[in-house]
Parts: sequence; structure tokens; C-alpha cells
Amino acid sequence: FLLQVKDLFSSLGVGCNVLELDQVDDGAGVQEVLSEITNQKTVPNIFVNKVHVGGCDRTFQAHQSGLLQKLLKENSAYEYDLIVIGGGSGGLACAKEAAILGKKVMVLDFVVPSPQGTSWGLGGTCVNVGCIPKKLMHQAALLGQALHDSRKFGWEYNQQVKHNWETMVDAIQNHISSLNWGYRLSLREKAVTYLNAYGEFVEHHKIKATNRKGQETCHTAAKFVIATGERPRYLGIQGDKEYCITSDDLFSLRYCPGKTLVVGASYVALECAGFLAGLGLDVTVMVRSIILRGFDQEMAEKLSSYMEQQHGVKFLRKFVPVMVQQLEKGSPGKLKVVAKSTEGPETIDGIYNTVLLAIGRDSCTRKIGLEKIGVKINEKNGKIPVNDVEQTNVSYVYAIGDILEGKPELTPVAIQAGKLLARRLFGTSSEKCDYINVPTTVFTPLEYGCCGLSEEKAIEVYKKENLEVFHSFFWPLEWTVAGRENNVCYAKIICNKLDHDRVIGFHVLGPNAGEITQGFAVAMKCRLTKRQLDETVGIHPTCGEVFTTLEITKSLGLDITQKGC
Ligand SMILES: Cc1cc2nc3c(=O)[nH]c(=O)nc-3n(C[C@H](O)[C@H](O)[C@H](O)COP(=O)(O)OP(=O)(O)OC[C@H]3O[C@@H](n4cnc5c(N)ncnc54)[C@H](O)[C@@H]3O)c2cc1C
Ligand SMILES: *[C@@H]1O[C@H](CO)[C@@H](O)[C@H](O)[C@H]1NC(C)=O
Repeated sequence: FLLQVKDLFSSLGVGCNVLELDQVDDGAGVQEVLSEITNQKTVPNIFVNKVHVGGCDRTFQAHQSGLLQKLLKENSAYEYDLIVIGGGSGGLACAKEAAILGKKVMVLDFVVPSPQGTSWGLGGTCVNVGCIPKKLMHQAALLGQALHDSRKFGWEYNQQVKHNWETMVDAIQNHISSLNWGYRLSLREKAVTYLNAYGEFVEHHKIKATNRKGQETCHTAAKFVIATGERPRYLGIQGDKEYCITSDDLFSLRYCPGKTLVVGASYVALECAGFLAGLGLDVTVMVRSIILRGFDQEMAEKLSSYMEQQHGVKFLRKFVPVMVQQLEKGSPGKLKVVAKSTEGPETIDGIYNTVLLAIGRDSCTRKIGLEKIGVKINEKNGKIPVNDVEQTNVSYVYAIGDILEGKPELTPVAIQAGKLLARRLFGTSSEKCDYINVPTTVFTPLEYGCCGLSEEKAIEVYKKENLEVFHSFFWPLEWTVAGRENNVCYAKIICNKLDHDRVIGFHVLGPNAGEITQGFAVAMKCRLTKRQLDETVGIHPTCGEVFTTLEITKSLGLDITQKGC
């Protein structure tokens, strides 16, 4: 009984003092006095802030009726019901939902400036230095392509077309400022206390907040959510922090970056390389080993060869930078990069105006005092392991978003997890976040959308002989008159033969891949099968319709190239 009650209190995020009567000197005497004042002879005998509640059953009844929570709250030892550390996608969603459910909530958000000195406002990575500016820059590049196509469709113009980087950055940054403002407003509306300060745990249920001026305050809460996200990784070579930039700096860069070396082959690296080339810059991507690790490698290969052959991006494969030197200062200046082969003693060097590092991101979990309260992290990658309700190994501390171990690092995932967590903690819901079949899109010049498993992963899990892979090239109608290349846009689905040809992997390479993939992801949530795809009537003429007419399997090995003029 005692254990059950202890569990109940710890699930409510409250500590309790336990007096074991058979382990104290005058246990019998205490029991006598207890039964005198409470009329209860049995144990456990529970008090909340000096108010007698009863035994185990009475305590659980009080919990069900809400009386227990009321007793705890009236005399709560903590300033807040919830403190959220990190005001990004996940943190804001969680804080707002908790406030809607009537809780007293504080959010701390603080941006440690990048080594180049860049910082930004409320809202986290996605809004300020992620999804939003990168999709807008991708759009800027797509418009350049559209201008090109437009002549084939009869548009005539004589002015020389050129791109103005400053104008684009100003427009995008203005939009971001309006989003920052909107976030502040919505926190105020919901009466969430916002602190623009860096938070770290100092003891159980207590954090220290340090603002820009170095002023410190302390705050306590019954529960905590960690949503501190990640920051770009550096190489740890001579000159990297001094002279290189990362995606944290690129989107607000005051000058056009010029000839650029992008180091890395993450989706961030390829997206940045793609739009910079689309804006007319000379771009090289230096790749250590695998392109788009974790994604379907056939798609990654097709996507990068499109960038190389049709989009003018150069790839330097199997090289890593070993030194970055400044040759000239300026906006941009001139940098010399020395790189070494990963396969032998060969070294090469090159001159660039800008070196953009996109080699990965590190979780912001090592400088927030987790060791003070014993929250477990994976020492290797700094990620926080949680159970299926986003609870860390310290029961009143939860974690969401990019810092989670083994979960997709995407904004809608962080938002969903944050919102559902607040509803479970403070509402009546028990719905858990579902991390399966999360769709995503890489916004490279040729966009790549996917949902479910890569072909490699599917083979690993289900074995090749149990899979049927349907695929086809397709030629968007808009591309035909424009004279753009055939046999680069590509559709592929992976079906599980042992389960009614269920679609377990969806992959599309082509224009508007994100818009296409979103709808099919819904279908996959509804356990889409190949037959249902075949029974669906297409919309003509679109790119998405290709998925309703897929006939050729990889196992048959028939030619999928489209004959067009
Ligand atoms: C270039 C780029 C492009 C991306 N594009 C996409 C995309 O197209 N689609 C998509 O879904 N996702 C995209 N992402 C990923 C997306 O941005 C993240 O998945 C999302 O922001 C994660 O949210 P989060 O709440 O975990 O953390 P974040 O949004 O990173 O928020 C964490 C916040 O906490 C703050 N913080 C950290 N430590 C402390 C502390 N101790 N005290 C106070 N505050 C602190 C940080 O400054 C930050 O503001 C992109 C990411 C990058 C880098
Ligand atoms: C959580 O894990 C850490 C690291 O393994 C450990 O030191 C700590 O005691 C654990 N805390 C709890 C409450 O289990």
C-alpha cells in the first residue's frame, strides 16, 4: 500500500516524507497518538501539508475526486506547475497547452550567440534558423528557375535578371520578426510567464535563470519539460570557429556569400547548397562518406546527381577539411581550405568566399545542470532517453523535441509531442505521441518527400523476398514545354507482400514533393495497400497521379525510362 501511495505522489511530481513506524524507537507510541488525532488505526496514514487525508484507499479516492490535487495546490511548495526550458517548436507548444489547461507555466528561452555572433528571437530553430528561412530561400531559388522556364512559355523581358541577396534576406528577416512577435503575444494571451534567460537546474525542482545582463533569478516548479534543441557542430580544426559559418548565420547574413564550400551531406547541407546554387552562386559540397545518411540511398543518389548534373553543384567526395585560413577579410572575404582524403594521404586545397559547415548538430543538454538532479543522458551523443510518455529517469522531468534519443528531428514532431505531453500531465488524456510513419521532405532543387521505411531499412526488417518495390520515372507536364530533363523525377513505393502489399515505404523525387507526400502519409496512417492505390483514380495532369498507376516492379527489372521528345 505504501508503495502505491508513493508512486501516486511521484506521478504527481510531489515528494513525500515517509515515517516507517517499525523502524523508529517509539513506533507504538506514535501509532497511539496518530489514532487519537485521526481516528485511524491502520497505516499508511497520509497527511498532505498537515491535513489528514486517510489511508491508501482514501488517498486514491481523493485523487480521483480532485481533492488531493487541490490540497497539494493550495499549499504548493512550488512557484509554478510547469517550467519549460527552451522556447522552440516543442517547448512553446507544451507551455501553451498547459496554460490552456489552467496551469501556472513559465517558459525560458535564450539563444547563445553563434561563434560568429548571430542570435535571434523567440521561437527556436525552425522559425529563426531552420524550416522557415530555408524554405523561403528555396522558394527564391525556385523562382529563378521559373523565370528561366517562363521564356519558353512566351514571356519576354529585356532587363537583365539578377538576384539581390540583401533584399531577400531583409524580406525573410522581416517575416521572421513578425513571427517572433506573434509568439510573444500568444504567450502573453495565455498568461504564460516568458523569461528571456538561460535556464539550468541547480537542485531538485529548482532552476537558475540567467539573463543577457548576467542577472540571476531562481524558480521552482512541480514539473519540468526540457526542450532545448540542438546547435550546429563544428569540425574542431584550425580556423573553423573563426572563419566558417553555419546555418545559424547563413539566413541572416548581411552580404551575399559568394563562392561557397558546403561541408557535410546532411539534408541541411544539401538544401543550403541547392538554394545557393539556384541563386546563381558557385557551390561545392564536400562529403566525408554518405549522402543523406538514414534516408533511402537510391533517392539520395538520384537527388545528388541531379544537383551535380542539372544544377551545377560540385561534389568533392571522400574528403574532410583539415584547416581553414583567411586570405582576405571582407564581406565576403577569401578563405583557403585544405582538405584531406578519407582514403589515402592525398590533400587538396581550394579558395572560397564562404565556408558553410553543416556536419551535424549537437544536443543542448550538457550545460543545463542535468547532473545536479540526476537526469540520465546518452554520454556519447548528449541525447536524453525517455519512456513512451516522454518521461526521463527523474519522474518529474520530461523531455521533447530534437534532444530525444532515436526520434525524428522535425518541428511537427516536437509540437505534437509537446501538446500531447501537456494534455497527459494536466488534462484527462492518455494519448501518446506516435513517432511511426512520420513524413518528411528534403527541399533540394529536386524535392524529395518520403514516409515510412527506406528500401535498405525495409530489406533489413522484412527481408528482400518479402517485399515488392514498384517504381517509375515521371515527367511533370510543366517541365515538358519548359524543355527540362526527363527521367529525373522518380516515384517508388515499397510493399510488404506478407501483409496484403501494405505500403511501408513511400518515396517521391520531384516538384512539390512535400505537398504530395503529406496526403499519402495520411493514407499510410490508414494502413494503405497497393490495391487501394490502384483503386484510387488519379488527378490529371499532376505529378502525384503516378502513384495510382505504378505497375513495374524492381523484381521484374523492366525499363522505367519515359520515352518523350
Ligand atoms: C537548417 C534547418 C532546417 C530545418 N528544416 C526543417 C524543416 O523543413 N521541417 C522540419 O520539420 N524541421 C526542420 N528543421 C528541424 C527543426 O528546426 C527542429 O526539429 C525543431 O526546431 C526542434 O524543436 P525543439 O523544440 O526540439 O528545439 P528548438 O526549436 O531548437 O528550440 C530550442 C530552444 O531552446 C533554447 N535553449 C537551449 N538551451 C536553453 C537553456 N538552457 N535555457 C533557455 N533556452 C534554451 C534555444 O535557444 C532554442 O530557442 C530544420 C533544422 C535546421 C537546422
Ligand atoms: C538516472 O540515471 C542517472 C544516470 O544513469 C543516475 O545517476 C540517477 O541516479 C538516475 N536517477 C533515477 C531517479 O533513477
